Amino acid sequence: MVQRMFSSAARRYDLNNTVLSFGLHHYWKRYAIDQANIKEGGRVLDVCSGTADIAILLAKRVGPSGHVTAVDLNPEMLEMGKSKVHKYGFEGIVSCTLGNAESLQFGDNRFDAATVGFGVRNVTDLKKAFSEMYRVIKPGGRVVCLEFTQPENRIFRSLYDFYSFTLLPAMGTILSGDRTGIYQYLPDSIRKFPPAEALRQLMLGVGFSKVSYTLLSGGIVAVHVGIK
Ligand SMILES: C[S@@+](CC[C@H](N)C(=O)[O-])C[C@H]1O[C@@H](n2cnc3c(N)ncnc32)[C@H](O)[C@@H]1O
Repeated sequence: MVQRMFSSAARRYDLNNTVLSFGLHHYWKRYAIDQANIKEGGRVLDVCSGTADIAILLAKRVGPSGHVTAVDLNPEMLEMGKSKVHKYGFEGIVSCTLGNAESLQFGDNRFDAATVGFGVRNVTDLKKAFSEMYRVIKPGGRVVCLEFTQPENRIFRSLYDFYSFTLLPAMGTILSGDRTGIYQYLPDSIRKFPPAEALRQLMLGVGFSKVSYTLLSGGIVAVHVGIK
């Protein structure tokens, strides 16, 4: 069901992201990759890469001597990602590959870091997805997870709930012409996702030696960093 929604949303995904987040998603993504400790020449994995925004930011960091592997389960989203990588001239650095976050096709200890942006909320087995990212990064490497979370301040939360449950589904549906219900699914999935501290505990349970997180934009987004 989730995959059908992303296939339908793929073509207008970037435009909708920018309009519905008031452009903030660019800042959140830049902030997240700043936490990944990426060096020139590094090898980085971007899971649930979608239209490859994060992979492209990572490519700028690793430079021509590095490599970014962008993995996503959805061919339509990945196609949009591939054309963007091509448009920005990063084909030599970024490879876009079909793959499942819950069962990554890479060997152990392959990458210096792994990132995932607004992706783990959609996977069936969250623990499995984090175990897989943990498995494929080198000891000392980082997994950075950028994801929506629920603001704790009650007043801000009621404003945010109004926006995300009422305005966002209406605007998203009009902008995209969507008939699959993706813009209703998005706020629902945020409510069902573990709060930031519970996610930190889950990551520790998977094996990360240290996990910290930062809340952004009034607590609607959390960036978790786990060190292997
Ligand atoms: C909301 S989009 C985020 C895309 C991109 N990371 C961004 O921040 O703009 C979520 C992406 O996760 C992908 N996805 C969902 N479940 C997945 C899974 N099990 N394995 C890999 N990708 C998955 C979807 O196909 C979709 O492209």
